[in-house]
Order: sequence, then structure tokens, then C-alpha cells
Amino acid sequence: MDYSMLPNQDFSVRPTNTSNVVEAGNITATSSSSLADELSGKREMVLGKNLHSSNFKITEHNEAYMNEIIDKYREHLEERTRHQLGFPCNLDLKYETLAQLLPFSINNLGDPFIESSYGIHSRLFELGVLDWFARLWELDESEYWGYVTNCGSEGNLHGVLIGREMFTDGVLYASTESHYAVWKASRICRMRCVKVKTLETGEMDCSDFKVKLLQNRNQPAIVNVNIGTTVKGAIDDLDQIIKVLEESGFEGRFYIHCDAALYGLMLPFVQHAPKVTFKKPIGSVSVSGHKFLGCPMPCGVQMTRKSHIKAISREIEWIASTDSTIMGSRSGHASIFLWYGLSKKGHSGLKEDVEKCLANAKYLKNRLEEVGIVAMLNEFSNIVVFEQPRSMDFVRKWQLVCEGEFAHVVVMPNVTREKLSAFIDDLLANRLD
Ligand SMILES: Cc1ncc(COP(=O)(O)O)c(C=O)c1O
Repeated sequence: MDYSMLPNQDFSVRPTNTSNVVEAGNITATSSSSLADELSGKREMVLGKNLHSSNFKITEHNEAYMNEIIDKYREHLEERTRHQLGFPCNLDLKYETLAQLLPFSINNLGDPFIESSYGIHSRLFELGVLDWFARLWELDESEYWGYVTNCGSEGNLHGVLIGREMFTDGVLYASTESHYAVWKASRICRMRCVKVKTLETGEMDCSDFKVKLLQNRNQPAIVNVNIGTTVKGAIDDLDQIIKVLEESGFEGRFYIHCDAALYGLMLPFVQHAPKVTFKKPIGSVSVSGHKFLGCPMPCGVQMTRKSHIKAISREIEWIASTDSTIMGSRSGHASIFLWYGLSKKGHSGLKEDVEKCLANAKYLKNRLEEVGIVAMLNEFSNIVVFEQPRSMDFVRKWQLVCEGEFAHVVVMPNVTREKLSAFIDDLLANRLD
């Protein structure tokens, strides 16, 4: 496979200005439409379109209208869930037991380790989750600090912020295939950011990294290391990056944040996969909770060393806690869902899921190649990249994420071989159109 044909740019959904109409459930919502119109027929869905003019109008005290909207919306979600292959979300959700906790306003505002004056919290679940990850990433109980974030991007921002506070004149280095959250973090923190080239696989090119480091030898380095890129699932070589930093005279003058949004819950369960561990000189790791584990709400975990968190912590008297997170209020439900999901799966369940995904990804790649479609799959990856289908209706139907000439499927635990076969059949049928 010639990896060089895969582009190195940001991976974004390609906007279109055509009036393509896609059948995406039964909801049509426009400002001028009647209720009957809103709940029937096709929904016009144009990628990148501003949705402001179409919404579910609030009509006060109309229970029948509300119930009808919610029922139809559930049907719409069911259909969209059946046809979702482009985004790294595990849609195999079994959290019915936790429905009883919906009537509570659970909020973990403040530092997870310090009880705040707000009593309706789930800190004991949050700390259980953090302990689990500290063991996974080999950081002693007395040495770690972490929290349950709103998403992986927040973890990246937190990691970059700690790096910036430790080295206020630091330069941020990240490969060109890093997630856009990293560029955003550099803008929010007003840091100079240097983009490092990637290899054909999508991993950071360490020789380019060295060249760029030496161009800024007087400033400390803050490095974002991708433990699985968004597009190709490429894993930056953490050991080599550390070696380059040390050889280039940066010992004691660097901070590494590992962005392990998807692969943070996969690689530990794959034999011979590269290891993320705090036994190496890294400063923080973040992972998303709604990706591989499949929490129904966006969430994540950010973990760092206790000694580092002081750099950004401030005492807040009226919550009787310390402000050391990015946001104020934090979902208390997310911690409980993470705790429940990790407890239910355990290491053996996660391992089983990972093995299934990697095998199914190989299956998809082989099936695509059998029908003459060029495909790429990195080692340890569940992301299959292939030439973008011509039909935009098809792309939208399966919610494929496209960049340039390419699209990808992320083979998550809920994706069965039957679903992949149906996808290929549909792809071939569309090719013949
Ligand atoms: C490598 C990488 N980092 C960060 C993120 C952002 O994660 P989240 O959607 O949880 O903010 C993603 C999302 O796909 C990702 O692939």
C-alpha cells in the first residue's frame, strides 16, 4: 500500500453547497413548517449548513406535541445509530441500570480530591475511575492527580496548559496530523506552535522534530504526542521522541502530553503495542470516555503528576475547593457512567472488544481490496482509510468522515461483520449508479 497517497491535512467533513437531500430518519424541522411537516418526510441535511433556521419550536404547555417530537426523535436516533461508521464512538450502550440516577443534579465542581460544599456529587466514583487509570498508566496513588473531563479535547487543553504554566516561554510541538483540539489549545494559551511533519503512516517524523527543536534550542519544549491520530490511527513513537529531546539538550526542559483519545483504552490490551506509562518522563495523558468505552455522554479522563497540578491550581473559598480543572461545573453522571462501564467490562472485556475490533478492521480492509478499493490500515489500528465514495448521499448515510480524496471507517465494538458486509454491498451498489 502506498501511504504517500494519503494527505497530511486537517481531517474535516467536506462542506457542500448543493441541495442534496438525505433520508435520515423522519424528522423535518423548519421554522415555517407545521408540526405535521416537522414530523414527516425527509430531513434536508447539508453538511456544513447553518441549522439556525430549522429547529423544534418551543410551544408552551403542549404535551402532545412534545411527546410526538421526542418519539420521532428517538426513531431518528435509532436510524442514525444503525448507520454510523465514521466517528470513533462505541454505540453498544448498556446503561439502563443508571437511568434511576437521572432525577439528580450531580455536579463534581472543583477538585475531585477535595470535597466541596455542594453535596450532590459523585466524587467517590470519580476517584475510583482515576485510581483505575493511574494503575493502567503506572502512576503511584500518592503521585497522581486527575479529573473526569467533558471530553478528550478538554484533556488536551489541560495538558497543554500545565506545560505552558511550567515553562512559560515554552514552544508547543505537535505533528501536522494532530487533532484540531491541540491547535486550539495553543491559541487559547497564546503559545507559539511548531508543526512537525509526519511519515506516510501518519506518525510524527522524528528527524523533522529534531530539526525544529534545534531551531528553538533556547526555549523549553512542550510536546503533544499522538497515541493514535484521528485520521489514520497512527501512533507517535514516544520513546524516540523522548530520545530526541534528551539528545538535543532538552533534558529537564520539556513537558510531554499524550493525546490518547481513542487508543488510550485500546493499546494497553494489545500484545506488543507501544506502552503509555508514567514510568517514562511524560507529564499527562488524556482519553475520551465516549469513544472506546462508549459512555452515552461526551466525557474523558485527564491524568497528570500531583507535583505538576500546583502550577494551575487556585483556592476558591465559596466552593470550599480548589479550582484546578478547565471548567467550573462538571458532569457527575459522567463519572458514574465511566465507573459503571469500566467495572462491567474490566480488563478482560476491554481486551475482548479490542481484539474483535482489530480483527474486524482487517476483515473490512481485505473485503475492500477484494472488490478493487485501495485501503490502508495501520498496525494496532481499527481505522480503515480508503478512497472517498463518489456519492455524497452514501457518505452522509453512513456518516463517513472525509478528507480530500479519502474517507475512513472506525471499526468500534458495536460494528459487526454483518454491518460491514451491508456497508460494502451498499458501497458497491452506489458505485454502479
Ligand atoms: C486524536 C484525537 N484527539 C482528540 C480528540 C477529541 O476528542 P473529544 O471528541 O473527546 O473531544 C479526538 C477525537 O476524535 C481524536 O481523535
